[in-house]
Amino acid sequence: MNVRDFQQMKDEGRRISMITCYDYSSARAVADSSIDCILVGDSLAMTMHGFPTTLSATTAMMALHTAAVAKGAPAKFIVADLPFLSYRKGLKDAMDSVHELMSAGAHAVKLEGVRGHADVVRHIVDSGVPVMGHLGLTPQSFHALGGMKVQARTNAAVKVLTSQARELEDAGCFAIVLECVPAQGARRVTEVLKIPTIGIGAGPYMNGQVLVYQDMLGLNPSFKPKFLRVYANTFEVIRTALNAYDRDVKSGAFPSENESYAALESLEQTAPKRMKHAAENGRGSRIRLASQMNQ
Ligand code: KIV
Repeated sequence: MNVRDFQQMKDEGRRISMITCYDYSSARAVADSSIDCILVGDSLAMTMHGFPTTLSATTAMMALHTAAVAKGAPAKFIVADLPFLSYRKGLKDAMDSVHELMSAGAHAVKLEGVRGHADVVRHIVDSGVPVMGHLGLTPQSFHALGGMKVQARTNAAVKVLTSQARELEDAGCFAIVLECVPAQGARRVTEVLKIPTIGIGAGPYMNGQVLVYQDMLGLNPSFKPKFLRVYANTFEVIRTALNAYDRDVKSGAFPSENESYAALESLEQTAPKRMKHAAENGRGSRIRLASQMNQ
């Protein structure tokens, strides 16, 4: 996928799938999937670093995670978030941040809002860097919005949203994320724009959808917004595996003989036996399994 495919997919009525991703091993799984593109979102400040909002993401943080994702998923189209205030401190600072993210392996950058920085968007686009917009709930404005709240719930607010989306399109954005907006308003924006919209909590009438990797994999079980569909209870799978490992270590069932290296010659003296091992008395479940497989 490249930036031109976004427009082509909208024009042909094909939906775009996007997932956030922040690290190398997750990127390998995404690389092996049919998902179209990756967002290295500034939500990584929360999911990967445990901060309460996205405001703590920095350009250095975003670049480090972007580089890891680019190594794990070299064939996927990667959009990286410009973090909080990085595009509000003047053109030079904005372009330094863009430069850092693109050098780390991003193919495009995303930024929130448009009021007061449409000229920055234009400059980034004119510099040859694709820009994705982000409207509706813009988490970098957490304090101004009074929290993570659904946006554009009135007709007047949908009008404002639509005109902001048009401004971003005019400034050269290739796509716009709409976050936490009622479905009918999001549909209006999608119909008015030529460029594709990608929704999260914006209903079914979008040209594409994006979800946060940790959320859709159930790694964050206490996070249950209305819009989220959890595709796997990964937290539970991991906890069960960790407890099984802990049990096997403590019972001596892990590691077995098969999971141990053999010396090239036997030791001249055997060490005195101190601990009774499942591997020696044949109790380990993995050992039984391994011996069955060897029969
Ligand atoms: O940072 C992020 O994960 C995002 C998505 C919610 C769209 O911006």
